[in-house]
Amino acid sequence: MTHTIRIESGGQFDLGDDEGSLLRGALRAGIGFPHECNVGGCGACRFELVDGEVDTLWPAAPGLSDRDRKRGKHLACQSMPLGDCTIRLRCDESYRPRITPARQKSALAARRMLTPDMAELTFKTEQAADFLPGQYALLSLPGVKGVRAYSMSNLPNPNGIWQFIVRRTPGGSASHALVDTLPLGSTIDLDAPYGGAWLRTDVSRPISCIAGGSGLAPMLSIARAAVLDPAASVDFFYGGRTPDDLCVEGLIADLPGAGTRLRLHNVLSAASAGEWLGTHGFVHEELERRLGDSLSEMEFYFAGPPPMIDAVQQLLMHKHRVDFNRIHFDRFV
Ligand SMILES: Cc1cc2nc3c(=O)[nH]c(=O)nc-3n(C[C@H](O)[C@H](O)[C@H](O)COP(=O)(O)OP(=O)(O)OC[C@H]3O[C@@H](n4cnc5c(N)ncnc54)[C@H](O)[C@@H]3O)c2cc1C
Ligand code: FES
Repeated sequence: MTHTIRIESGGQFDLGDDEGSLLRGALRAGIGFPHECNVGGCGACRFELVDGEVDTLWPAAPGLSDRDRKRGKHLACQSMPLGDCTIRLRCDESYRPRITPARQKSALAARRMLTPDMAELTFKTEQAADFLPGQYALLSLPGVKGVRAYSMSNLPNPNGIWQFIVRRTPGGSASHALVDTLPLGSTIDLDAPYGGAWLRTDVSRPISCIAGGSGLAPMLSIARAAVLDPAASVDFFYGGRTPDDLCVEGLIADLPGAGTRLRLHNVLSAASAGEWLGTHGFVHEELERRLGDSLSEMEFYFAGPPPMIDAVQQLLMHKHRVDFNRIHFDRFV
């Protein structure tokens, strides 16, 4: 069944029952609907329901406060309309998808462990893998409630190859399935591409890619794409905890310019002096130590857990006053 969603400030779109969420339907219809995570964590897709009824997929989603709920706010990524609706929000052209997201069946073709708790997974779809480096897909996994966001680590390609790097979260349902149990050959739903932290093609400015733990995948995709331009210069910062987490060197060794115009900086936060002779500490500290005064001239991409994102944001935006338009990030809520 199809419902009509009217946006109070202007515009409307039709939403099928099988779209997954109001947000995904809106983006597929080309609406500039504000969003970030697509999974209920960030609150960017809040809207007010003026008329009609919606079903809430995940009532406890942390993206909405109790105060928001009392005020009649909803998360578009956790709402499915039960009929025609009128909604209130401020749309913004910058959120309009560059590539229209599509749902496809994908088959798990390969899995290899990169570290004891991180695996690279390769899925195959019939249609092309059409995305911008840095974007993510929504995966639906058997036995897991709700979809999960995972960023692509490879480059867009006509062969339908989608690669992800997934870190096993202790007690986590989707990451455990992906890293450990989903059998090769399994078919799952893949809905992509989403996300605004994609590689801007202007490489006239030096680029910094900053990855914390599982934030590796989108940074790899961005670095892989950027270095295809012989003029690009990329500093790649990878923050892990112990030497077990180190895996990037082998993944970028064959890229054009590796070691010269693509420079890797590994930083470990919980290694003892004896087991790691490299840099100890956090990635944002090393970023500042290495690039110091040139920070304000660079383009930044970063992904990882919220504390790392906050620290890098604080450093760039508050301490070094980097232009907001040169900062692109995904918070793995
Ligand atoms: C934009 C983005 C990109 C990401 N990219 C990567 C990546 O490349 N690699 C990687 O390892 N991780 C990535 N993550 C994190 C990933 O999506 C998962 O949060 C992580 O793997 C833990 O999931 P889990 O199911 O194992 O853990 P769980 O603890 O089972 O669930 C974790 C998250 O799932 C959601 N959730 C929980 N319950 C429900 C429910 N009932 N309905 C709907 N949602 C629910 C919540 O957001 C919760 O925080 C990304 C996250 C975001 C937002
Ligand atoms: S996009 Fe809906 S809560 Fe993040």
